[in-house]
Amino acid sequence: MFSTMIIAIDGHSSCGKSTLAKGLAKALHYAYLDTGAMYRAVTLYFLETGTDYSDPQAVEDALQHIEIHFERVGGQNHTFLNGADVEREIREMRVSAHVSPVSAISAVRRAMVALQKSMGSRGGIVADGRDIGTVVFPDAGLKIFLTADLDVRTSRRHLELAAKGIDAEWDDIRNNLMERDRIDSGRADSPLRKADDAVVIDNTLLSEEEQLERALQLARERK
Ligand code: DC
Repeated sequence: MFSTMIIAIDGHSSCGKSTLAKGLAKALHYAYLDTGAMYRAVTLYFLETGTDYSDPQAVEDALQHIEIHFERVGGQNHTFLNGADVEREIREMRVSAHVSPVSAISAVRRAMVALQKSMGSRGGIVADGRDIGTVVFPDAGLKIFLTADLDVRTSRRHLELAAKGIDAEWDDIRNNLMERDRIDSGRADSPLRKADDAVVIDNTLLSEEEQLERALQLARERK
């Protein structure tokens, strides 16, 4: 049972979903599925090819030319777009600035959700995103809805980007998080919301270890 469970983690931008998902995946020997990275890769493709994503036909055409997969590189999960490692580029602010409107496009969501469902079809995965417990894996064995204070999220994001050598202003990051939360929660197609059967974890005052322990406890209870 444990080896085939799907764990779904949803929540606002930069509230620690990927940290928790990676920690759980490592502890349980599951695979990690970073669905946000997929929307970021699509956004990067649109930006690099100059695709006007307000044009439905241009979006449909572009989607035919996008292949996304994940590979382990130096022990980390890296995102590949059409054969190229784009793990660093997809985290840049220029991508963050466009990813919410891009991920609100139904054609984009249809393509990504289909890919995510096939990647998770055999279970044994931890997936994080905005619609994982509600749309992608509604039958997930454990659903967690993560949340944290906006200023704490901004500071964490600032540190994370700095560690990757990506320079960004604190205020720009905070505004981007607020704007993405607004668009992600307000869009018509699969908006971010807590699944009825999700457990809420507010990690504002929790360390990474405490958050992981709480989630592992929940996973053990679902065994
Ligand atoms: O998790 P992230 O910040 O890397 O996600 C980037 C964007 O992708 C986010 O602002 C909303 C979108 N997204 C989504 O719509 N659905 C998901 N399952 C994951 C991400």
